[in-house]
Amino acid sequence: MKEHDIYEHEVLVIGGGLSGLRAALASLEEGADVAVISKVHPLRSHSVAAQGGINASLGNAPKAENDTWKDHAFDTVKGSDYLADQDAVEVMCKEAPDVVLELEHMGTVFSRLDDGKIAQRPFGGAGVPRTCYAADRTGHNLLHTLYEQNISEDLTFYNEYFVTSLVRKNGRILGCVSWDFEEGKVVGFASNVVILATGGYGRIYNRSTNALINTGDGAMLAYDVGVPLEDMEFIQFHPTTLYGSNILITEGARGEGGYLLNSEGERFMENYAPEAMELAPRDIVARAIITETEDGRAFEDEFVHLDITHLGESKIKERLPGIRQIAKDFAGIEPVQEPIPVQPGQHYSMGGIDVDTFGRTCIDGLFAVGECACVSVHGANRLGGNSLLETVVFGRRAGEKASEQLDERGSYDMNMIQEKMEEDRRMIDALLNTTEGSPYSEVMGDLRETMFEHFGVYRNEGSMKEGLLKLKQIKEDYDSIKIDNENRRFNTALVRALELRSMIKVAETVVLGSLKRKESRGSHYRRDYPERNDEKYLQHSIFTKTEDGPEVDYEEVTITQFKVKERGY
Ligand code: FUM
Repeated sequence: MKEHDIYEHEVLVIGGGLSGLRAALASLEEGADVAVISKVHPLRSHSVAAQGGINASLGNAPKAENDTWKDHAFDTVKGSDYLADQDAVEVMCKEAPDVVLELEHMGTVFSRLDDGKIAQRPFGGAGVPRTCYAADRTGHNLLHTLYEQNISEDLTFYNEYFVTSLVRKNGRILGCVSWDFEEGKVVGFASNVVILATGGYGRIYNRSTNALINTGDGAMLAYDVGVPLEDMEFIQFHPTTLYGSNILITEGARGEGGYLLNSEGERFMENYAPEAMELAPRDIVARAIITETEDGRAFEDEFVHLDITHLGESKIKERLPGIRQIAKDFAGIEPVQEPIPVQPGQHYSMGGIDVDTFGRTCIDGLFAVGECACVSVHGANRLGGNSLLETVVFGRRAGEKASEQLDERGSYDMNMIQEKMEEDRRMIDALLNTTEGSPYSEVMGDLRETMFEHFGVYRNEGSMKEGLLKLKQIKEDYDSIKIDNENRRFNTALVRALELRSMIKVAETVVLGSLKRKESRGSHYRRDYPERNDEKYLQHSIFTKTEDGPEVDYEEVTITQFKVKERGY
C-alpha cells in the first residue's frame, strides 16, 4: 500500500466525527477500500460534545403522535429565517426517522419512554417534542456507536494527521497531502474520492462551545482548490453557555422546563417571544440575553440565570447528568439547588463548503458533509437537534454516492501528489525555522478577540469596518509568525500554526459576508439594518477565492412548499 510515503485508498474521509464515520461506513458497506484521516483520535472529535439530541418526526412523545416530516421541515425552514434550501430540508426531514432507527439498531443507548420507545423532548423552534436523546450525552452515544460499527468493518484510521492540501487536476480530485504528527513528516494520500468531514470553524471566535480543533480546516482546503464557500456570515451563538468557560449547557435543560431569569428575577423571554418563551430559536434567545445584559439586567453585567432547580433532583440526574457535572466541576454550582450562570457563546457555523444533497462539490470526486458543508439545511439559523441529524443523513448519502463513482476512475497520479508534498514540506520547514516574528498564539488570540468583538451577536457597519482593519493586520502578522519549537515529532505548536492559516482565510469570508449583507436575518443581526430584506437578500452568499482575497456573489434560495413569511414565536 505504501510507496514513497504515499498511501492509496479508494475513498478518503478527512475527519473522524459523526459525519465522517457515517460516510465511511456507507462506503465500506458498498465494498470500497476506505480510510479516515483525523487530526485527533475519532472519539475526541467535536461530535462527542453534542448534548441535547437529534430530531426526527417519530411522534413518540405524548401529544406529538401526529408529527410528520413536513412539520419538521416547516419548523426547520421557519427557524432558518427562510434561507434554507427547501429541497434539501425535505431530504433531511424525510430521512430522519430512518437514520435514527438505524442508529438505534446499531446500538445507540437512547433514553426511553415507559412504553420502551425512544424518548423525545421539546427543543427550540420545534412545534412538538421531536428531539430524540440519550440523556444529555447524545453525541457521545452516537459517536461511540458509529466508531464501533466502523471498527467491526475494519476501517483504516490515520489518527493524528493534519491535512495541509488537497490535490486536484483538471477539475478532478487526486488525493491530499498531510502532516504525520508522530513521525513529523509530510505524507501523501492518493484516492478516487475525498470526503471532507472536518467540522466547523467556531474557534475563530472567543467564547465558543466548540472543541479547540474546530478551526475551519476543511473549508479552507476546499476553498484553496476552487470550491466556493456558502453563507459564511451566519454564525450561531448558543444562548446558554456556562459563564467563565463557555462550555455548552444544553437547550435540553430548557426543553425539560428550565427558565431564564434576569437579575430582577424576571422570566424576560416573555418580552421577546411570548409564546415560545425559552424555546424560541437560538438567535432570538441569544439576542434577548445580550439585550438584557446591555440594559443592565444581567448579573455582574455578564450573565443571566438558567434555573432548573424546580425540575427536582431525580429528573436532573436522569435527564441532565452531564450539565449537572459540568456546572459542578467548572462553576462550583450544584444545579439541583442553585441556578446556573449562563451567557451566549459561539456554537455553530451555518455556512460552509457549497455542496448538493449528496455532498458533492463542483470538483469531481470531492465531497463535503457535516458542519464543514453547507447543503443548505440551516439557512440563517439552525434549530437545535438538526446538526446531529444532518451529519448522519448527509454522511450516509455521501458515502453511498462516493462508492458509486469508484469504477469510473483511472489509476492514481502520483507525480502531482509528490509535487504538492514538496511544496508543503517547504512551507512547514519555513514555519519550523522562523525565529523572529509574532508568536502564533498571540496572533490566534487577536483573531478570536476581533471576531467576537466585531462580528458577534449584534453587528454594525462601523464596528465591522474596524474589525476588517484588524483582520488585515492579523493576516500580515501571520506571514511572519514564529512557533518557537523546531521539533518535528508531536509538535503541537506547528499544528496550531497550520490551523491558524485556515482560521484566517475562513474569517476573511465571514467578515466580507457580514459587511455585504445589509439586512438582518437569523443569526446575522445588523443594528444598522434591523429588518429582513427579502427583495435583495433572500439569497445565499457564495464566496470564491481570488488573488486579492475572497469575492462574494449571490445565488437563489430554493423554495418548494413553504411560502416566505415573517417569523414570529
Ligand atoms: O443545546 C444543545 O444540546 C445543542 C444541540 C445542538 O446544537 O443541536
